[in-house]
Amino acid sequence: MKELILILDFGGQYTHLIARRMRELKVYSEIEDPAISTERLKEYGQKYNLRGLILSGGPSSVYSGNAVEYNKEVFNLTIPILGICYGHQLIAYVFGGKVSHAGKEEYGIGRLKVRRPVGIFQDVEPEETIWISHADIVEELPKDFEVLGETRNCPIAAFRHTAMPIYGVQFHPEVEHTRPGMKILGNFAYLICGCSPSLETGDFVEQAVREIREQARGSKAIVALSGGIDSSTAAVLASRALGKSLTAVFVDHGFMREGEGVTVKRTFEGLGLNVIAVNAEKVFLEKLKGVRDPEQKRKVVGEGFIRVLEDAAKSVGAEYLIQGTIYPDRIESGETKHSSVIKTHHNVGGIPSAVAFKGIIEPLKDLYKDEVRYVARELGLPESIVKRHVFPGPGAVVRIMGEITPEKQAIWRRVDRIVQEELEKEIFYYDLWMAFPVLLETRSTGVRGDARAFGYTVAIRAVESKDTMTANFSQLPYHFLERLSTRITNEVPEVTRVVYDITNKPPATMEWE
Ligand code: XMP
Repeated sequence: MKELILILDFGGQYTHLIARRMRELKVYSEIEDPAISTERLKEYGQKYNLRGLILSGGPSSVYSGNAVEYNKEVFNLTIPILGICYGHQLIAYVFGGKVSHAGKEEYGIGRLKVRRPVGIFQDVEPEETIWISHADIVEELPKDFEVLGETRNCPIAAFRHTAMPIYGVQFHPEVEHTRPGMKILGNFAYLICGCSPSLETGDFVEQAVREIREQARGSKAIVALSGGIDSSTAAVLASRALGKSLTAVFVDHGFMREGEGVTVKRTFEGLGLNVIAVNAEKVFLEKLKGVRDPEQKRKVVGEGFIRVLEDAAKSVGAEYLIQGTIYPDRIESGETKHSSVIKTHHNVGGIPSAVAFKGIIEPLKDLYKDEVRYVARELGLPESIVKRHVFPGPGAVVRIMGEITPEKQAIWRRVDRIVQEELEKEIFYYDLWMAFPVLLETRSTGVRGDARAFGYTVAIRAVESKDTMTANFSQLPYHFLERLSTRITNEVPEVTRVVYDITNKPPATMEWE
């Protein structure tokens, strides 16, 4: 029987990274609601060789009124358990320990001192870099538990039961910044749960093509194509599945990179797709008039997109919409039951519920960005698309702060062109997840010639990331930043000041809105 590790999702931002790490360890896992019925738990036991349980992190406190409900039976399964962050606190709480609000909260990189290199800590160095994010801590261990590791502000950063295979870690082994993260998760899966690496990844392309065909059931479909890696990959996959029954629709909402429409149309027609380009700039500018709230702006774009796509679908007689939504888009839009909404990705939560499509097909919905790049290469997409920086669906709408006006839109475009031109000359372009200007609402005083100037402030954001969920600001060379600032202030006189954003994610997100 297939081995399974069940992950209970208490609403953490990183729950799906746990599943992803299991996939990398070649161990099959599924994510479930902690309030899973006993009946369903039994079904898992019948269908799989249920080897272990991971309790994820989450935003609540175990003792608060809003604590996530869970089925208490999960603690009677007599299989290994690993609690992460909230899961770690929950284990302590359930077994009679004490959890309290930490005097000092910890967010970001920390140092772990391994007190006992056993169990999940086997072969882990005595001192290690870890990624930790918490407000509560386990203050007292339950009876029969022992401490395995500590951090500066968290004396019980890891523990285990002395007789049963139950472990807890306050930090996040699934996050890339935890250096021994894969070792710890591997120890849990292989040593503690006894799993063997055997997951058959299968042929994603073949399976996705089959599924798209099944879902579209012989009808025509359109695919929303922005020219970014996700929608491009979805478009080529869908074209393999549906051939000429597919039309790719490029919606130019007026907030894309310059010249995007022409390049996208040429590239994808060259790949044999039917492509329609719709210029909807005026419509979007009108709809965005007076809208200031970032979430509202995203929703306006989402809604506007769908309406344009519906019209395009009607014109070609298509009934299905195919989109390049990927896993992190869904997580951050708060799709899982207990996680909080960070922002509404326009292609997920921004979509109005009443859409005139028979169905929406999202072939990449379980993939992370680097997995999409892998699939894109397998499909033979050009490297210029595979390696291209990510660009968000709403484009400059979330990079121009506050209300959008034609004046701000034009300034942003000119600044962005300079930033992209300069970046493309640099080899470090490929180390960056993306880099872009943000037009702020803050005006500041400058001097031009001998006169006072009072103009816009532009922030440059450049980040490095592997999986979207965390990111570091890039330590770009000063001479490069200086070149940007000189060109921007010389060539775009409306801008009097350029600043560089030095915030990591978290606490900031990559985009400013
Ligand atoms: P944040 O700002 O959430 O960005 O840290 C993570 C990644 O997601 C992109 N992003 C979006 N992509 N629709 C998209 O297609 C959206 O609404 C959206 N919002 C953010 C962002 O550019 C970054 O790569």
